[in-house]
Amino acid sequence: MGLTTVTAFGPGRVNLLGEHTDYNDGLCLPFAIERGVTVRAEALDGGRIRAEAADLDEHDDFAADDPPRDEEGWRAFVRGTVGELRAAGHTVGGARLHIAGDVPRGSGLSSSAALSTALALALLALASEDEGDRRDLARLCSRVENDWVGAQTGLLDQLAALFGRAGQALRLDCRDLSIDFVPLELHGWRLAVAPSGHVHTHAGSGYNDRRAECRAACEALGIASLRDAGPDAPDALPAPLDRRVRHVLTENARVDAAVQALHAGDLAALGELIDASHASLRDDYEVSVDAVERTVARLKDAGAAGARIVGGGFGGSVLALFGPGTQPPADATLVQPAGCARLLDY
Ligand code: GLA
Repeated sequence: MGLTTVTAFGPGRVNLLGEHTDYNDGLCLPFAIERGVTVRAEALDGGRIRAEAADLDEHDDFAADDPPRDEEGWRAFVRGTVGELRAAGHTVGGARLHIAGDVPRGSGLSSSAALSTALALALLALASEDEGDRRDLARLCSRVENDWVGAQTGLLDQLAALFGRAGQALRLDCRDLSIDFVPLELHGWRLAVAPSGHVHTHAGSGYNDRRAECRAACEALGIASLRDAGPDAPDALPAPLDRRVRHVLTENARVDAAVQALHAGDLAALGELIDASHASLRDDYEVSVDAVERTVARLKDAGAAGARIVGGGFGGSVLALFGPGTQPPADATLVQPAGCARLLDY
């Protein structure tokens, strides 16, 4: 006898460093946050999925055995998660899904992986199925975003949501998906995110263009991924591919420099790395916009030791590091590493 109601939670994430490196087999340093998405799933006779996005007051209704693909936004995530779970051989029957969350959409804090991981855990538990290997689950949730939502995103968000731990950041090596946990001890410093006010979607922004540029750079260099690019690779490429590759190479190096800075308790160095990452994302990777630049400037004026765009770019939030004695502005939210996606009750 299966369960009749389950509730699952998926967290959003902040990426400390390592942006646009995941789909280049590179390094990232995210952590899961307390904010996230909660999905309550109740078994329904009749084989239909009836979903409600409570925050939007919107609904969806479709056959669990044949989710239609012609949708955007949150519906594409729900249909895609059902479709990918079934394609992977899992049982998904009729269910009523109640979805609510407190990660702002389009904010660069990965409301999307929060949603897909919560949905996947809820639907698997409702079918009394084991969740299996969490790396496989991350890949499944990533296929939802790639093949149903139309954003060619990597695995950063899903891995952060599925492996996050309180008090720790994750050094992800996206080449072999290995994870090293790094204690995030801030010694009285604080991390905060502030909205730029410019909302983005990855499917509709320049995100997919950047990914295509990285593929083009690999082809020109004759390598399988930018992880294999040597330090001189940019010199062999035409603009703008040279700048794109320079960002990826320097950003990978900044991730390991940040891990060292954290181990050494050198928060000032972490601030400098965050600033350098932003400059690289703005000038070399070109994923910033005016609203983000104004937000970065505002946070720096407030005394931030480092401030940078987080997530896919073209809008979203800015992450800033504040030292003792400085005060984040009123619209900034303090963030700290919290636990991973999980079932809340049976
Ligand atoms: C988005 C994507 C991730 C990653 C970041 C940029 O959050 O979902 O896969 O590429 O952008 O680092």
